[in-house]
Amino acid sequence: MFTQSIWKDTASIHNHQVLNRDISADVAIIGGGVTGISTARLLARQGLKVVVAESLKVGGGTSGHSTGNLYVTIDKNLETLKNKYDLETVKQVLQSRKDALNLIESWVKAYSLDCDFKRQNWNLYSAIAENDEKIEQELGVAREAGLEIIDSDPANYPLKINKGITLPNQAQLNPMRYVQELANVADDNIAIYECTRVIKIEESDEGVVLHTSGGNIHADYAVMATHVPKGFDLLQTLLGSYREYGVAFKAGDLDFPEGIFWGYHEDGKNISSRLYERNGERYVIFVGEPHKTGQTEDNIQHIQALCDFAQTHYGLNQVVYRWGGQHYRPADLLPFIGRRNQNGRTFVATGFSTDGLVYGTLAAMMIADEITGRSNPYSDLYNPRRFTPIKSASRFIAENVNVATVFLKDLPSGADKDSFADIKVGEGAVINYQGEKIAAYRREDNELHLNSAVCPHLKCIVNWNNAEKTWDCPCHGSRFSRDGVVLEGPSWDNLARAKFKDSLPDDIQDRK
Ligand code: FES
Repeated sequence: MFTQSIWKDTASIHNHQVLNRDISADVAIIGGGVTGISTARLLARQGLKVVVAESLKVGGGTSGHSTGNLYVTIDKNLETLKNKYDLETVKQVLQSRKDALNLIESWVKAYSLDCDFKRQNWNLYSAIAENDEKIEQELGVAREAGLEIIDSDPANYPLKINKGITLPNQAQLNPMRYVQELANVADDNIAIYECTRVIKIEESDEGVVLHTSGGNIHADYAVMATHVPKGFDLLQTLLGSYREYGVAFKAGDLDFPEGIFWGYHEDGKNISSRLYERNGERYVIFVGEPHKTGQTEDNIQHIQALCDFAQTHYGLNQVVYRWGGQHYRPADLLPFIGRRNQNGRTFVATGFSTDGLVYGTLAAMMIADEITGRSNPYSDLYNPRRFTPIKSASRFIAENVNVATVFLKDLPSGADKDSFADIKVGEGAVINYQGEKIAAYRREDNELHLNSAVCPHLKCIVNWNNAEKTWDCPCHGSRFSRDGVVLEGPSWDNLARAKFKDSLPDDIQDRK
């Protein structure tokens, strides 16, 4: 199965230099997604010299695999947030997200960013009566919090609904185009390096040093705009890593209305949909089917489920794009944004759930304020050093029992296949060989790529993702290419090359 996000294929790509020497700056940012590029722009505006190191292409990580939807509400529902906290917290979250959404729009206008930004209605609906109560609850809390939310007219939906609500004046854009265009706005204070992987950070009283694949970056501060902190961080015990999928179909003659539609469907399925138009071609995008990263037997079945949904409800059958995206759910429902340690020099931004484009922009605003010594009204709310044992307890326990379970399950056996010969061309599998777990992938030319299946982060065993052809770690969401290069998640390092104690397996003696 070929996977590529619609955003990557419809973005105008601007190339940036690759780092090949030691450099210095006021602030070094790891990650060229929406968080990193936005932070760089805000800091540069304050006169600071900023370097961005992106291991792939700008916007090519999580940002380029997101939904492109922008809204002030949150995916886990305002009702859930109010129950865990209070109405005042709900109001603060909504206001903070509104501020960030407005900043995105102001940049789109100020820099004439060609990213298909459009104000849109956001709609939440139940397709079946048993979910109507959730819609009622959300309407109630949204109104209490001051949102101008209304009962929907069912005629404005692309399918038959039972009950719906509409929040006007939200927005959508092409997220990859947005980040690429924003990064391409000239600013002498910003230097962006692509294909430049940070390998580790050293922090001292004098500053930080980022060791990269192309040289060292010396700076006063480091920002981990990497979706989740790199290396070992206790925050990882407060986050659950999930993968979700998107598919885009050519709309053809389908009369699909404008707007963002989030739906509760039968069998507990939550699916979002929306129209996207580029170069005269109309597409309908569906997003859903979340699962813990690295913890599904068959990733393809999740993409197929979205395709089946599109076929059943809309008669769509020309799927053009399929992709997966990652998100991290925080145990107490709120992201972690700010200085990681009291008086430290490293900043983090994580736990955005599926609301990352707006939270990433908010993180940029907060971190830029903190670095430049300005107060921010949301720094307590999203403080990454907060301690919320009661609010975090149930999810903290659930996520860490889950991590312990997958860790133990993978010791000491439990390989996917019995021998290397069982792996077909284009497939990957974990093989238990001479007491070692080997992540084996058979390339199109029949050669095997052999890496250790032990995740370099904290030693869980990776699993094969048969849709995206990657190795995904079930513990904290590190992901690696088919040949072992780290793509995302907390691991600094690639999968190690496989080492064999005695001899190579019989069926790969001819390995070059
Ligand atoms: Fe933590 Fe793999 S991501 S062990």
